[in-house]
Amino acid sequence: MAGRLEGKTAIITGAGRGIGREVALLFAREGCRVLVNDLGTSVAGEGADAAPAAQTAAEIRAAGGEAVPHFGDVSEMDAAEDMVRKVLDEWGRLDIVVNTAGILRDRMVFNMTEEEWDAVIRVHLRGTFATTKFASIVWRQAREGGRLINFTSGSGLFGAPGQPNYAAAKMGIWGFTLSCARALGRYGVTANSIAPGAATRMTDTVPQERAGNRPRAEEARGTERDPANIAPPLVYLASDAGAWITGRCFGIAGYRITLYSNIAPQVVLQGAKPWTVDELFERMEPTFRQFVAPVQ
Ligand SMILES: NC(=O)c1ccc[n+]([C@@H]2O[C@H](COP(=O)([O-])OP(=O)(O)OC[C@H]3O[C@@H](n4cnc5c(N)ncnc54)[C@H](O)[C@@H]3O)[C@@H](O)[C@H]2O)c1
Repeated sequence: MAGRLEGKTAIITGAGRGIGREVALLFAREGCRVLVNDLGTSVAGEGADAAPAAQTAAEIRAAGGEAVPHFGDVSEMDAAEDMVRKVLDEWGRLDIVVNTAGILRDRMVFNMTEEEWDAVIRVHLRGTFATTKFASIVWRQAREGGRLINFTSGSGLFGAPGQPNYAAAKMGIWGFTLSCARALGRYGVTANSIAPGAATRMTDTVPQERAGNRPRAEEARGTERDPANIAPPLVYLASDAGAWITGRCFGIAGYRITLYSNIAPQVVLQGAKPWTVDELFERMEPTFRQFVAPVQ
């Protein structure tokens, strides 16, 4: 049977390791031609190494697929534009962008430095914007549709206390993706975000006492925590069959796929004239308190 992504092309960022690598390998097995981007940094975003992107691309080619490596930094506009240009030069079309590249600089908000804040916002939020911007120019001109899949995180959806920069970046990506869904739908482009759960070197940074008995990255192969488990639902979203779903967030962890609801009003207190402070001191708690669970 022909692959589910036969004839398509994709840019996959952060595809040298972890989840992005598994997405690239499965997309290629499904017939997709893949630009494998990875800067090859440490989890903290330090250093650069061509080996991860080169290895993933070589593995795809060795298995009979088509891939080109790309070693640029997703947060640099020139690098993002270069990825799109390379895909067009190489294969003449761009169908799919999966923004997986990411780093961590965990710190409590009261200890966080400006550099730690900026580095994480830059790679995740600016990086996701950069590739999307240049891809969307192509999609708008070509009018042949497109698939945008961006990586958010439960850290943002639920507010991890030790990751204020990462939580902010990831919720920024969630909002950005929703905005793209609404802006690009008229060109046949879908945009969805993914909150994954898988054992990678990134989750290996969680201290052992909080990670419980979850396997570490090197022991995860074949278990529910295998990053390969994130890839199959992405093939569906990236395929022609996924055209009906846009502007949504899926949690994908192990063998479980969760559709998250989008934000909707919960309870409304409607006034007929400007509120006085005294009126609100009377009405706020009786109206809203029953709906507000304590934040732990
Ligand atoms: N693993 C999880 O459980 C989990 C949970 C929530 C969200 N995520 C998100 O999933 C995505 C993949 O994470 P992972 O767990 O596979 O991590 P990983 O560290 O294994 O892979 C991330 C890759 O991104 C690359 N990268 C970093 N900065 C880059 C840059 N500026 N330009 C290009 N490439 C860059 C790294 O070199 C690395 O190969 C990330 O966006 C992460 O935030 C992962």
